[in-house]
Amino acid sequence: MNLEELEALKSESLEAVKAAADAAALEAVRVKYLGRSGTVTAVMKSLKDVPPAERPAFGKAANALRQAVEAAIAERQAALASEETASGPAFDYTMPGRWSESGSLHPLSMVVKEVARIFSRIGFTVADGPDIETKFNNFTALNTAPHHPSMDQSDTLWITDDLLLRTQTSPVQIRAMLARKPPVRIICPGRTYRRDTMDATHSANFHQIEGLYVDTKPVSLADLKATLAYFAREMMGEGIGVRFRPHFFPFTEPSVEVDFTCHVCGGKGCRVCKQSGWIEVAGAGMVDPRVYRHVGYDPEKVWGYAFGFGVERIAMIKYGVPDIRYFYENDLRFLKQFR
Ligand code: DAH
Repeated sequence: MNLEELEALKSESLEAVKAAADAAALEAVRVKYLGRSGTVTAVMKSLKDVPPAERPAFGKAANALRQAVEAAIAERQAALASEETASGPAFDYTMPGRWSESGSLHPLSMVVKEVARIFSRIGFTVADGPDIETKFNNFTALNTAPHHPSMDQSDTLWITDDLLLRTQTSPVQIRAMLARKPPVRIICPGRTYRRDTMDATHSANFHQIEGLYVDTKPVSLADLKATLAYFAREMMGEGIGVRFRPHFFPFTEPSVEVDFTCHVCGGKGCRVCKQSGWIEVAGAGMVDPRVYRHVGYDPEKVWGYAFGFGVERIAMIKYGVPDIRYFYENDLRFLKQFR
């Protein structure tokens, strides 16, 4: 190899370094010229065969070649590295975005929140009670006769002779009245349990929202009706009808069942409302004097009403859910519809 060829090799190798598009290509160039059997390495090895007279000049040129290629590679390496950090790692903008899902409230939680908001605007606060209740709070203080069928093993999940999974949120009324003097104006959302077999409208674990208003001034059935009519309009929209039907509950006298106009037919009568035009949503009534006595209130000096809604029932009406089991199956196709 003569000096001219050396010069040619230099421009060829420097071109190759410049053309290397990424780290892998640059490494290939390095191996080609500076590797153990690389072209530049071969030139260095051939130095000993150069005639002694030419050796100094050739050696100098060969060294310059090697240093130039090494320097060019180092420079290109640095350039490639800074290109990568400037634009982040190589990124394909046509790739679909990384997909992340955010959770949302369960429809039953949405109903509870909405009910609490509506009642809070007319002075009700949220009270709480445990799922495991005493027989006294769940039955006795609520004036349930000692051998009432609701206390039967076949309806109530008993834990001991005195403890049970509450069958209703009504025991929170007792807790609230035992804890404070009237006026008491509370709602209480919570889980309730019964020994029911699951079907489209029954579940062994469901939710209720209890309401209680007791005051030291006269409170009447008309107040109860006005309150529930207000609630119905706020929850279901204008145009909803509310009706009371006489009923019996041990803890209220008089007692009523509360119906809303059927959401499906608007009151004309259909399969969902069994042609009646009405859907039952709550039990209610004026608090029975015997309940007041159990909590140490003087029945001659207090007046009040109570009501208990089924949360699932309201959710089914409001959102048009045909089967109560959907609420518990955690099927995302169902739950995502409430985002
Ligand atoms: N606890 C009753 C039930 O589970 C519902 C109920 C009826 C609650 C009348 C009340 C009430 O507060 O006054 O069927």
